[in-house]
Amino acid sequence: MTSLLEFSSPPLLLECYLSHLKLNNFRCYVDAELQCDSRPVVLTGPNGAGKTNVLEAISFLSPGRGLRRATLSEVSRHREEGHSWGVMATVQGIHFSHDLATGVEIGQESERRTIKIDHEVVRSQTSLTEYLNVIWLTPQMDRLFQEASSARRRFLDRLVYALDREHARRLARYEHYFRERARVLKLGMRDPHWLATLEQHMAETGVAIAASRKNFIEMFFQSQTSSLSHFPKPILQLEGKIEEWLETEPALAVEERLTHLLASSRDRDAEIGGASEGPHKSDLKVYFNSQNRPAEQCSTGEQKALLLAIILTTARLKAYSDQRRPIILLDEVVAHLDEIRRQALFEEILSLNMQAWMTGTDSSVFLSMTTKFQHFHIENAILRPMN
Ligand SMILES: Nc1ncnc2c1ncn2[C@@H]1O[C@H](COP(=O)(O)OP(=O)(O)O)[C@@H](O)[C@H]1O
Ligand SMILES: [Mg+2]
Repeated sequence: MTSLLEFSSPPLLLECYLSHLKLNNFRCYVDAELQCDSRPVVLTGPNGAGKTNVLEAISFLSPGRGLRRATLSEVSRHREEGHSWGVMATVQGIHFSHDLATGVEIGQESERRTIKIDHEVVRSQTSLTEYLNVIWLTPQMDRLFQEASSARRRFLDRLVYALDREHARRLARYEHYFRERARVLKLGMRDPHWLATLEQHMAETGVAIAASRKNFIEMFFQSQTSSLSHFPKPILQLEGKIEEWLETEPALAVEERLTHLLASSRDRDAEIGGASEGPHKSDLKVYFNSQNRPAEQCSTGEQKALLLAIILTTARLKAYSDQRRPIILLDEVVAHLDEIRRQALFEEILSLNMQAWMTGTDSSVFLSMTTKFQHFHIENAILRPMN
C-alpha cells in the first residue's frame, strides 16, 4: 500500500489537464473545439445550451458509458444509429502529452466505441485509465445512496481507478468470465472443465477486485487525518461476503472458498442467470462523520456534500500518490453549495492545481474566481471563450 501521504507537504506539480478538446457530431455539437490551459474551466449558459454535453464528452475519455450511461447511438448527433461521432482530447502534463480519442467510426459494426491513444487503436477501453482519470458528480447522482447498489459500485470503482490502474482491467476481465459462465450455464450441455476454469478465473479476479477496493477504502480513511475544511467527513465501508472473508483469511484461501461456492451453486446460478457470490454483490456504505448517520438518511444537501468530499479526498490521494490529478466534472454542483462551501471547494481545486470542469446557468457564482478559472459561455451549442 502507498505509504500515507503527507498531506501537509504540497505535491509536485506534474499536473494533468486537457489542453485541447474537440467534439464531432456529438449530441448537439457538429464541430466544437476548446483550447485550455491548466486552470479549472467554467461553462455557463442557459438550460439546454450544451453544457452537460461537454462534460459527457469528457467522461467518454474513461472506460464505460459516460456520465449519462448513454448508448453509442444516443450521443450521436440526432441519435442516428450507425452514424459516426468522436471526442478527441490532448492530455497535457509537464513531462508528457497524449492524444486520446474515442467514438464510432463510419460503417463501424461493433457495439463498442473505438479508442485511440496517440493515434493508435487500442483494444480495450481500460487502457484509458493509464493516461487520464475522470471523476464526476452530476444532479442524477443525488439519489446515489437510495439507488440500487450497482450505481454505488460504479461510483466506487471509478474512484479506485484513480489509485489502481489495473482495477479497470480486472473488472473487465471479471465481467467477461461472469458472462461466459452464465452463457455456459444456460446451455443444457455443460462442460465441467470449462466451468471450473471460468470459476477459477472469476475467483482470482474477483478477490483481486475486492482487495483493491478494500485498499482504496483504507487509504481513504487514513488520508482523512487532515480532512477538508467545511465539508463533512465521509466514512466509507464495504459490505460483501468477499470483503468479510478477506478480514480473517488470506487472499488465496478466499479464492478457493469462492471457487468452491461457485461450483456448488451452478444449478441455482443457471436459474437466476448470474452468480450467487462475488464482487458484483458488494455494496459501498457511506456514513456522515460517524457510523450512526448513514448517508441515505442525510438531507439531499448533506448527501451532495458527502459525495463532493469523497471526490475531493480521492483527488488529493491521487495527486499525492503519483502527482497526476484527475479531471473532475461537476455538473450543476456549484450553484447548490452555500457560499462557505463554494469557496472551500474553489480553494481545494486551486490548491491541488486540478482542472475541474464546472457548469452553471448563473455565472455570478463563479465571480470570485474570474481570473483563476477559464470561462466559456455556451449558447445553442456555440462555445465562446470569455476570458
Ligand atoms: N443526440 C443528440 N443530437 C442532437 N442534439 C442532442 C442530442 N442529445 C441531446 N441533444 C440536445 O442537447 C441539448 C442539451 O444539452 P445539455 O448539454 O444537456 O444542456 P445544458 O446546457 O442544460 O446542460 C438539448 O437541446 C438536446 O436537445
Ligand atoms: Mg445540464
